[in-house]
Amino acid sequence: MEEVPLEAPRGPAPAAEAGVRAETLITVDSPDAMRGLGLRIAGLLRPGDLVLLTGELGAGKTTLTRGLGEGLGVRGAVTSPTFVIARVHPPLGDGPALVHVDAYRLGGGLDEMEDLDLDVSLPESVVVVEWGDGKVEELSDDRLHVVIERAVGHEEVLDDVRQVSVRGIGARWGAGAGLEALAGALSE
Ligand SMILES: Nc1ncnc2c1ncn2[C@@H]1O[C@H](COP(=O)(O)OP(=O)(O)OP(=O)(O)O)[C@@H](O)[C@H]1O
Ligand SMILES: [Mg+2]
Repeated sequence: MEEVPLEAPRGPAPAAEAGVRAETLITVDSPDAMRGLGLRIAGLLRPGDLVLLTGELGAGKTTLTRGLGEGLGVRGAVTSPTFVIARVHPPLGDGPALVHVDAYRLGGGLDEMEDLDLDVSLPESVVVVEWGDGKVEELSDDRLHVVIERAVGHEEVLDDVRQVSVRGIGARWGAGAGLEALAGALSE
């Protein structure tokens, strides 16, 4: 069988994305480890932050969001919203609310998002968007873009392995934002 290196990225090289200030690559080998990555990322987030999640169906976007919700300490289980486009998880303590958006069926982008009438202040919340590429970037000059890819290799062995790229875009994610602390492999 052809040897394929585990680290080989699929798709365009990370540097292809404009405005990236910092990028950290993480290998995640289980759903629990993906939740753990979400917990770690939550530790870096502040009110007003936008997190864009990219990855094919079943990549692990919602699983990572579950960890974000745990880390932020918000109410309600993070699930895949089948019939709702956005769900607001209010904070249990002093932290920001988590607004979890599934933009899969959001055709028009930002306009429709504003029409959702979420009854929550976006500058005081953390907004996490699945399937939002090309739709919600205007919400903020800064964003964290998390790109999840299945590892390329022997199917049976690597089924649960994901390569995750966490990219900080805009001044918010320059030096000192803490992205480098995420580096390395996460395994649980
Ligand atoms: N390393 C991993 N990280 C995350 N999920 C994994 C991993 N390995 C296996 N899985 C499984 O893959 C699935 C990921 O589902 P999840 O709902 O998080 O994906 P998604 O990217 O949100 O999909 P969708 O585009 O349908 O919303 C789960 O069933 C999970 O158990
Ligand atoms: Mg999902």
